[in-house]
Amino acid sequence: MLFREGNRLCLGLQDQADAGILTVDFFDSALQHRIARPLSSESLVKAMGSRPKATSSHPLTQGLPCQDASAHLIDATAGLGQDAFILACAGWYVTMVEQSPLVHALLEDGLKRGLEAALEQGNDVMLTNLSRMYLMPASDSQQILQDIPQAAVIYLDPMFPEREKSARVKKNRYLLQQLHGEEAQGENLLKLALGLARKVVVKRPLHAHPLNQIKPSGAISGKTARFDIYAGAGVGGAVTQANA
Ligand SMILES: C[S@@+](CC[C@H](N)C(=O)[O-])C[C@H]1O[C@@H](n2cnc3c(N)ncnc32)[C@H](O)[C@@H]1O
Repeated sequence: MLFREGNRLCLGLQDQADAGILTVDFFDSALQHRIARPLSSESLVKAMGSRPKATSSHPLTQGLPCQDASAHLIDATAGLGQDAFILACAGWYVTMVEQSPLVHALLEDGLKRGLEAALEQGNDVMLTNLSRMYLMPASDSQQILQDIPQAAVIYLDPMFPEREKSARVKKNRYLLQQLHGEEAQGENLLKLALGLARKVVVKRPLHAHPLNQIKPSGAISGKTARFDIYAGAGVGGAVTQANA
């Protein structure tokens, strides 16, 4: 159920009041703390490879996906936009696709409020970071990925298969899992992405098998997640079945 708390849009799960609420706040202290540290040490950022210069002269997204493939990254499973935000702060122009109309509404609201707050505060850094994020209308990436201008990297963070409510599963991720069930595990997305970009990065649980059993060409592990890297995939031959 969507509801407003002050000026922010929130989502609560019926029958699960104790699970908390979902909302998007790019000024959240944990996120702000995260971007105050060197982003080059983040596994997520490392996995994407050499990042574009944050001072690049590309025009900000202004209602369109970035047309320069070398600075453009597609987050095809955007969720609440946390990873997309970190990547935008690292200098990427991120086009986000989210299939759930409810989650999409939260993300759209968070982005709009974030931009308004940055403008109001005269916070040019946040204004630049948030302006590098472009949200497509709510859609299934499988339907629209091929229509988005080319990107250097396609990033996938589908639902993890584990659905237990454990301390290891962050609150937001648990709520998203409850909301989407099994259908959002990105089973077909990887093959599609591999045909469209020269680099695809997939977030996985630390010890999970690679998505679709497709062996990555490399991986970077963080504390709680692993980033499987498929490089050169779109130009043929780099991908083999993990269990072949
Ligand atoms: C684990 S969440 C992503 C979290 C995100 N990385 C973040 O930092 O907030 C996965 C999201 O992917 C979305 N998703 C899964 N399959 C999708 C698809 N084919 N097209 C678009 N979105 C998809 C789900 O709706 C869900 O919101």
